[in-house]
Amino acid sequence: MYAYEGDDWFSTAKKVGIEIPTGCLTGSCGACEIDVNGQTVRACINNIKKGKECSLKVSLTTDPFWEN
Ligand code: FES
Repeated sequence: MYAYEGDDWFSTAKKVGIEIPTGCLTGSCGACEIDVNGQTVRACINNIKKGKECSLKVSLTTDPFWEN
């Protein structure tokens, strides 16, 4: 699957069957944090950034506070 600069993380993840957890949607709670090529990104306040064409490794982070 291809993603493009400016695409939002939520809809892009959904296209591949992954639901990114959400909370405040304002960038303050951290519920939507994902790991993008080793850097933590809050999906609700960031879009996919321009870069060289490459594969992205994206991981959901876990937060015991938001589980259960
Ligand atoms: S949903 Fe709270 S920081 Fe993104």
